[in-house]
Amino acid sequence: MPRFEDTVAVITGAGSGIGEQTALQLAREGGKVVLVGRTVSKLEKVAERINEGLTEPAADIFRTDVTIEKEVHKLADFVQSTYGDLHVVVNNAGTSGKSTIMEMEETEWDRIQNTNLKSVYLVSQSLGRVMMKASEKEGQEGDRAIVNVASLSGHKAGAKIPHYSSSKAAVINFSKSLALEFAPYGIRVNTVSPGFAETPLTEEGLRNKRFEEAIQKNTALGRIGKPEEIAAVITFAASKEASYMTGSDLLVDGGWLIK
Ligand code: NAI
Repeated sequence: MPRFEDTVAVITGAGSGIGEQTALQLAREGGKVVLVGRTVSKLEKVAERINEGLTEPAADIFRTDVTIEKEVHKLADFVQSTYGDLHVVVNNAGTSGKSTIMEMEETEWDRIQNTNLKSVYLVSQSLGRVMMKASEKEGQEGDRAIVNVASLSGHKAGAKIPHYSSSKAAVINFSKSLALEFAPYGIRVNTVSPGFAETPLTEEGLRNKRFEEAIQKNTALGRIGKPEEIAAVITFAASKEASYMTGSDLLVDGGWLIK
């Protein structure tokens, strides 16, 4: 039986990179996926790829800015009324920027913290209610999962990305509290911390050959990761294969931290 048969999954930031690959993998393995993001055209393209050739579409899209509570509530209402159940949430939407602490503008600090951290709180709370409602009868027997995408940067200091690295460290810690609070409802919560993967987020940096070489040199496996390699670990954490794992962080960094 496909791992995600009879499973409804919401993926934020599903229009590109790791989120897109995660949606494709969940759908390929039988899941119904709700693709969430701000740019409808990007989400539509991913939905087309998923739904192509299927008699019953497996992908829905829902435009949401995950930093805005009202919009997140509308997303939860949509999932509740359309599916009446929710098994998997992947909080993947995120963004980055470059600044030292001394040069940092308050607006830039807020942009990163809101996108990377506040969104995880808002989405987990609002969609968590939908999951809890659905799991009322099952209690701890149920198996629902939230996977929050953190980062290797959440495990170490980040030169010129202190706002980014601190937001990701907070996502890892917040997810542990969430795991504790949601465990009685049969909802597991884990984080996946990617190292350096080739996506639109890292595209600009990777145009610089010296930067690319430095990344390769710092990685034990000697290469940059592919978004599908990160997505494979996210789908594992979301699957029943990980049924005894909660409050954990899975580092997928090609061996950066051990070097
Ligand atoms: P990406 O830029 O392709 O994906 C991020 C997605 O989030 C984009 O589609 C973007 O439009 C969406 N998004 C941003 N703000 C949003 C908002 N307010 N509401 C809704 N959607 C929003 O980049 P990538 O690399 O796929 O990033 C996915 C996650 O992986 C992020 O959380 C990122 O921090 C994390 N990550 C990525 C690494 C990499 O090397 N690519 C390394 C470590 C972590």
